[in-house]
Amino acid sequence: MPVAVLTSEANGFRVTVDDLEAARTDRTKAVLFVSPSNPTGAVHSRAEIEAIGKWASEHGLWVVTDEIYHQLVYGDAEHHSLPVVVPEMAERAVVLNGVSKTYAMTGWRVGWMIGPPDVISGAANYQSHTTSNVANVSQRAALAALTGDQQCVLEMREAFERRRKRAVDMLNGIDGVTLAEPRGAFYVFPNLSAHLGRDIRGRRPQTTLELADLLLDEAKIAIVPGEAFGLPGYARLSYALGDDALVEGLTRLGDILSEGS
Ligand SMILES: Cc1ncc(COP(=O)(O)O)c(C=O)c1O
Repeated sequence: MPVAVLTSEANGFRVTVDDLEAARTDRTKAVLFVSPSNPTGAVHSRAEIEAIGKWASEHGLWVVTDEIYHQLVYGDAEHHSLPVVVPEMAERAVVLNGVSKTYAMTGWRVGWMIGPPDVISGAANYQSHTTSNVANVSQRAALAALTGDQQCVLEMREAFERRRKRAVDMLNGIDGVTLAEPRGAFYVFPNLSAHLGRDIRGRRPQTTLELADLLLDEAKIAIVPGEAFGLPGYARLSYALGDDALVEGLTRLGDILSEGS
């Protein structure tokens, strides 16, 4: 049975070996590790990844490491792949990646796994009996993205970096909102709990789920409530949209929250 390891805002939402050890039981088989993270934008350092890999190795656990945001890291953050940092995990690690984020090719539905041959062959069998295969046209498009000029990746990273800064600055300017600065992916995960239980346009949202409904109805802005990720009080906002729409959305968020009493 999957157990979510809840991380803390104070630690920039990075998971530690202590968090993992507290969640481990004698039935634990595998860890799903996501860095850069959706929804928090947390990026683990090389030393943190090394510690997690060594802990997994010591306890004979598998690690499935989802690296779909590996190109989207900002400032001095760096991406490190767990089986590269801890080579003894190579036989019990599965790396997931795809073209959705790096090349903005979500609709093409192409991703890949890197792992021990028997796992990959099992996964290929499973896929061939479920979805048959990824459409050939999509595979060709993915190949073109991966082997073509990578300048577009740098340009997108720069655009995201600019939008990240803008989103962080604007959210920090809203009273009662706190934020661990995201260092990767394209999300911000602010704490909105100070705005719960307040009267906003005749409604009094008690949860971020209710606040999300109110924001959609009254300000036409969409957030994903933290409840969806096991962290009520928070919300995920994406900055994978144009600069003007981002500023407009965050301005509306600040305006409507300031009406609360
Ligand atoms: C961590 C993570 N992994 C995988 C995916 C899915 O990517 P795909 O479009 O390849 O299904 C997402 C998309 O939101 C994601 O956030």
